[in-house]
Amino acid sequence: MQRAAPQTFDRVLSSMCTRPHPAARNAAERFLATNPGDPATYQTVAALEEDALAYLAEITGLETPHGYITSGGTEANIQAVRAARNYLARDDPNVVAPESIHFSFQKAADVLGVELRTVPVDDDYRADTDAVRAAVDSNTIVVAGVAGTTEFGRVDPIPELTDIAHDAGALMHVDAAWGGFVLPFTDHEWSFSHAPIDSMTIDPHKYGQAVVPAGGLLFRERDVLDALAIDTPYLESASQASLTGTRSGAGVASAAAAMRELWPTGYRDVYETQQANAEWLYEQLVARGYETVEPELPLVAAELPESEFESLRDLGWRISRTGSGELRIVCMPHVTRDSLRAFLSDLDSLSPVRN
Ligand SMILES: Cc1ncc(COP(=O)(O)O)c(C=O)c1O
Repeated sequence: MQRAAPQTFDRVLSSMCTRPHPAARNAAERFLATNPGDPATYQTVAALEEDALAYLAEITGLETPHGYITSGGTEANIQAVRAARNYLARDDPNVVAPESIHFSFQKAADVLGVELRTVPVDDDYRADTDAVRAAVDSNTIVVAGVAGTTEFGRVDPIPELTDIAHDAGALMHVDAAWGGFVLPFTDHEWSFSHAPIDSMTIDPHKYGQAVVPAGGLLFRERDVLDALAIDTPYLESASQASLTGTRSGAGVASAAAAMRELWPTGYRDVYETQQANAEWLYEQLVARGYETVEPELPLVAAELPESEFESLRDLGWRISRTGSGELRIVCMPHVTRDSLRAFLSDLDSLSPVRN
């Protein structure tokens, strides 16, 4: 049998993963057989996890980092809800979030036995603060906002949501799984330094250019992280906060290596290139008559007839749609202006009437 080869990234336009930075790939290979879930045995990778957390704290404006490198955004979101549930210990707990929240929150609600209350977004796909305020009550444990939504790349009004959360005695969680490595170079208010938020998801294996799996979970207060800890009798470390036991040392080492290499200049360069690509693509689609959502971050959504979408997939373009059917193009670090030109050229060949 022929050896399978991974796909190239040339035609991948809707994924939130990307080609890892060479330093991240190298670090991953070196630390493949290590387990940061057992820090007393695998001490070097445990130290690299501290480095990775220190970088994440710097990126997100957090003074003292408390958290760990997760398997991805899903684990981080589940654990943020679990930490709040354990820490606040409320009856019939609920989580309030805009309907633009990532589907990992449905998993969190299901696994943890917590009610997920999603509320409508405003006309520009951001959390509607009135709707969030109306949905919270004395059983709310978390208000969640997104800093870089999966479908439209929008940033929720994080300071206002934080006030609503805290007025209700709940914790404020920000999901910056995708947006966290581009937002530092924008004017958005999204981080620990912009509002007294309690926890954040930020994934090195997305815009951070680490290998999969490398997500990030951060807490402002040590006590909230500690609400996740369980005793680990047969290990030499006393307790464990992560959801998984054995964890990927490759992910941890690669996250530290990518951030060492790229923060801040490399990430800024990528952001500027990809924001320019997204704005260019937006203009190109508008000029062709497609209803297109203006990119706030490097993500473009546009209405595209089903037949054109299917034909582009048949031509090998790895594209996907939002829940409401729009084509979404995520300008990840591997996306080039040439690949977008080739995509548009294929699109034009399918819809000559528009030209
Ligand atoms: C905003 C957001 N949160 C969470 C996730 C889940 O991350 P993962 O797929 O790494 O579990 C995603 C994935 O795209 C996302 O966009």
